[in-house]
This record gives sequence, structure tokens and C-alpha cells, in this order.
Amino acid sequence: MGQQQLNVCVVGAGYVGLTTGVCLAYLGHQVTCIDKDREKIDMLLAGRAPIYEPGLEDLLRLANARLKFTTSPEACRHADVIILAVGTPPTPNGNADLSFMEAAAAEVAAQLTGERFQVIVNKSTVPVGTAQRVNLIITTAIASRGGSANFAVASNPEFLREGVAIHDTLYPDRIVIGSASNEAINMLRVMYAPILEQTFAAPKVCPRPERFDLPALVTTDVTSAEMIKYAANAFLAMKISFINEIGGLCEKVGADVTEVARGIGLDKRIGPRFLQAGLGWGGSCFGKDTAALIRTAQEYGYDMPIVSATVSVNRRQRLRAIDKLQETLKVVRGRTIGLLGLAFKPDTDDLRDAPALDIIRVLLEMGARVKVYDPVALENFKIQYPNLAVEPCKNASELSQDCDAVIIVTEWEEFRHLPLAELAEKMTGAKVLIDGRNIIDRQDAEKAGLRYVGFGR
Ligand SMILES: NC(=O)c1ccc[n+]([C@@H]2O[C@H](COP(=O)([O-])OP(=O)(O)OC[C@H]3O[C@@H](n4cnc5c(N)ncnc54)[C@H](O)[C@@H]3O)[C@@H](O)[C@H]2O)c1
Repeated sequence: MGQQQLNVCVVGAGYVGLTTGVCLAYLGHQVTCIDKDREKIDMLLAGRAPIYEPGLEDLLRLANARLKFTTSPEACRHADVIILAVGTPPTPNGNADLSFMEAAAAEVAAQLTGERFQVIVNKSTVPVGTAQRVNLIITTAIASRGGSANFAVASNPEFLREGVAIHDTLYPDRIVIGSASNEAINMLRVMYAPILEQTFAAPKVCPRPERFDLPALVTTDVTSAEMIKYAANAFLAMKISFINEIGGLCEKVGADVTEVARGIGLDKRIGPRFLQAGLGWGGSCFGKDTAALIRTAQEYGYDMPIVSATVSVNRRQRLRAIDKLQETLKVVRGRTIGLLGLAFKPDTDDLRDAPALDIIRVLLEMGARVKVYDPVALENFKIQYPNLAVEPCKNASELSQDCDAVIIVTEWEEFRHLPLAELAEKMTGAKVLIDGRNIIDRQDAEKAGLRYVGFGR
């Protein structure tokens, strides 16, 4: 490939770490994925991906020769680049929990010999100051054993979306690298060279998009790099909350938010993406990152009313599904309600902060019988939420049997082509279809005999 091959360790083989590791190996680097979860590593050693991510297993096979999987951090000893991609879940007060980052930094520090220059990369989403904190942990550990330090920390936030993670890794809009060390920036420039220059042969499972512009490389200071990630997620979440707020008013005045979104999205300053009104955002990032941003601001005595409103509009939006049930069914207690979709978005099995969970909890509290179906996330759901007393179904048709209302919660592709007449036949009472993602044509639904309720239309 005519490029420099680096020895890379990725600590944390989750959605971000595993995707990054597999892609870097595909691009020609020697990669070791390290995870403390033995089960995950065993699955990977057997050639299987522990998460559902389209194309990941194919790429695992293609890059197999340059990939290693282990639970031991020992491989960090010989790495040029060590990428920290562990979880940073929210604490109850909204702060990012940095305990996994700090533990990983300490484990890595124990391996650094000082014999070669090494770059420690914070890829996890972490609040301002974390690069400094990681630097301190490692420096202190090395000093306490009388070793010599020869490393630099860089912030390299990740922007991939689950479901299209490989695409986003191989064909990003930009790569952001923040570091005080030019040597570190140069090392990462080398690591990312195949992506920045698009010199690799595109894998069949993830072809290069037509008319793809080379990604921008943003090199900056660490603090700005850390802030870029939070600002990006808060902005995207705000865009969705904004269109949902407009959608609420559209319902009142008789406008259609999908028409409004089309009309404003054509303005290049606004753009059409993240303007789909519906049940709002969820997932592992937007909720926790907006909360962490607000917490950081609080530490500085600074108000962020726009970010706060983004969060509260989203909370209200999820419960709009319940309002709509009450408006159409009047009484919810004792009714059978079906949820189509559990994952927070299509093409993933990730249930973190999924709107479906809030809706299920409220429906159960209200005394409804709840049936659920998801093409991929059902198994995860059964394992993670055994106490939610719902009835899992094998498909949309089985789900609709005896339902007073069906709510489309996740815009899985198969829900765009629901057998509406069959659903109507199996449902009972008012036969309400609440289209939480505005993916069904009202006329089609009504023709099939369903009472259609969209969002903001
Ligand atoms: N999931 C996304 O779409 C996404 C996108 C961009 C950024 N991020 C950020 O990336 C980070 C990772 O997210 P994720 O979704 O990949 O998390 P994840 O929970 O899927 O993966 C984290 C992994 O780290 C492992 N781990 C924890 N401590 C470890 C240690 N000391 N040594 C080795 N392994 C360890 C865990 O076992 C787990 O497998 C988070 O900060 C997140 O905010 C996530």
C-alpha cells in the first residue's frame, strides 16, 4: 500500500473501539484490540462481532491477518499509538463517569517503557481537561516507578454513527486531532493517512461514496478538540429538538412539519439532515453528552439555556406518544399497545437511552398490556430489561394481533413497508397507528382501515 504501517493498540472493543481497530487493520496497520470483557474477546477470537454493526464481521475477516484480540494490556508496550475507547457513561448528576478512562490510563501507564515515543489517544467522549488528567495519571505512574516518560496525549474525538460506523470511519467528513505535541499529531497523521488521502481499496461491504471529497484534518489544541465533540453533539440534538418544537406548533395550526422541514432544509445554511420530527433523539451519546456539557458549564457558573431546552424538549417529545394514545383511545388502562422498534435508531441493537424504554415504562404504569417487536434489538432487550413485563413478538404481524394501537418507535427499513391491511385486520377497537417517525403515508394507512396519527402533521 506504500504507506507506513503502525503498531496500534485499542483499549475498549465496543462500538467505537472495535470499529476503529478493525478499520485501521483493514487499512494496513497492525492492531491489537484489548477489552477486559473476556466474553467479547472470546467471540472476537472466534471471528464473530459481539455487537450488531453492518459489515463489521466481513471486515473482521478481511483484516484478520493484522488483528489481535486480548484481555491483557501488555501489547501496549510495543505500540506506536494507544487508543483509549472505553465507555464514559453518565453519572446520576450528569457528569461523565471517567473511572473507566482513568483505570485504562493506569493500565496503559504500567506498560510504557520509555524506549520509544508513544501516543496515547483519547477517542472516548470526555469533558474538557481529560487529556490533561490522563497525562497526569501516566506521568505520575511512570515517575513513581522511576521510569522515563516518552509519550504524548492527544484528543481525537469520534463522530461515527452506530449502524453506519464503518462508513463513517472510512469516509468521515473530518478528523479532529488535538495535541500540544507536533510529534503526536504527525504520528496520527500517518495513522490516518489512508483515510485522509483515500488511498485504500474500498471494501465491497462499504464502497466509497460517489463524489466523496477528501476528509478535512483539523489539528488543534486538546481543549478545543474535547469541546468540538460536545458542541457537535449538542448542535445535532438541538436541530432535532428544534424541528420537534416546530412540529408541536404545526399540529396546533394545521401545518405539516415534514413540509416545513423540506422547505427550510433546502436552505444551504440549514441543510436537510436532522430535521425529522418524531419521538426525538436517544442513544448512548446525545443524552449523556448534553448532560455532561451542562455540568461542565455549571462548574464555571455559566448558563446554557439552549442546550438545557434541547434536553427538555426531547423529554417532552417522547411522552407525546402517550398524549396521542390518550387523545385517540381516551382510556389507556387495559388496552393492548404494540411497539414497533426498541433500538434507539435503526441498524443497531443499542438500547441505551432508547425512547422505547420510557414509553414502555409509562404504559406499564398506566396499566396497559404492551407487546414489542424489533428486528435486531429484541435479544438485548430481554437480557437487559428482564423486569419490564412486555410480550416480545416475532414480527409486526404477530405484534398487531389484538392491539388497540401500534406505535412506530424506530424507523427500521422494514417498518416503512408494513402490511397495513393485515395489521388493520388483526388490530382491535380504534386501530390507531401512531407513526412516531413519520414514515408511513397517511392515505395508505387510512385506506387500510387504520386511524393514522403522525407527529407534527
Ligand atoms: N457508540 C457511539 O455511537 C459513539 C460515537 C462516538 C463517540 N462515542 C464515545 O466513545 C466511547 C466508547 O463508546 P462505546 O459506545 O464504544 O462504548 P462500549 O460500552 O460499547 O465499549 C466500551 C468498551 O470498553 C471496555 N472497557 C472498559 N474499561 C476497560 C479497560 N480498562 N480495559 C479494556 N477495556 C475496557 C468495555 O468492556 C467495553 O467493551 C464513549 O465515550 C462514547 O461516548 C460513542
